[in-house]
Amino acid sequence: MRIGIFGAGGMAEALGGQWSGHDVMVAARDQAKAAKISARVGTWAETARASDVILLALPAASVPEVLAAAGNLDGKVLIDCTNAVGPGAALTIPDQAVRIAAAAPGAHVVKAFNLCEVDVWRMTPPVFGGRPLAVPLCGAPEAIEVVSSLVRDLGCTPLNAGGLDRAGLMEATMAFMVGLWFDGHDAQACFPPLPA
Ligand SMILES: NC(=O)c1ccc[n+]([C@@H]2O[C@H](COP(=O)([O-])OP(=O)(O)OC[C@H]3O[C@@H](n4cnc5c(N)ncnc54)[C@H](OP(=O)(O)O)[C@@H]3O)[C@@H](O)[C@H]2O)c1
Repeated sequence: MRIGIFGAGGMAEALGGQWSGHDVMVAARDQAKAAKISARVGTWAETARASDVILLALPAASVPEVLAAAGNLDGKVLIDCTNAVGPGAALTIPDQAVRIAAAAPGAHVVKAFNLCEVDVWRMTPPVFGGRPLAVPLCGAPEAIEVVSSLVRDLGCTPLNAGGLDRAGLMEATMAFMVGLWFDGHDAQACFPPLPA
């Protein structure tokens, strides 16, 4: 798959490493950091042109400006892993994935990979208590299909979690869970197993 990564921080490096078997190109403000993830480095627009799927591994607030610089994104699958969580575990930008879709109306946005901390995405594979990590995906079905294959590359189980209208719930869930974790609670212990 032709994968573009916007950003060269923790999430870019973690997921880019997992997808090294693909054709990965990275765009970032710091080209030296980008080159540590892939030998193929380009501008936002060059990377967008060379990619079918683009991971937006950027601070949530910076995404609109970067998308504007990336040019034509029609037909691209944009993976939104961003979390806009501020002090007090508050959601600072509601409906981020929907906003991205509005900024790139010809693209297909999928919310994914926002629920776990970066070190989880470095695990090969992320398995807890003998269960592979499940990764919920919100977006259009055809785009979810594409991202599901990238989830399987990590050894995780993709979950079709509905359309982009559900993405805001994933974003709010993240903020809520972060609040619990920061207060020292085991958020996972809140949920019973499926048979219950
Ligand atoms: N870290 C986690 O555990 C985690 C987990 C799930 C989701 N996320 C989300 O994933 C996204 C990326 O997180 P991260 O941990 O990879 O962040 P990070 O390590 O801070 O990397 C952010 C990247 O975005 C670039 N950037 C910052 N401001 C920018 C701007 N105005 N324009 C263009 N590029 C800019 C940075 O460039 P410079 O190096 O030049 O500053 C860097 O390449 C965030 O939205 C975060 O909420 C993070």
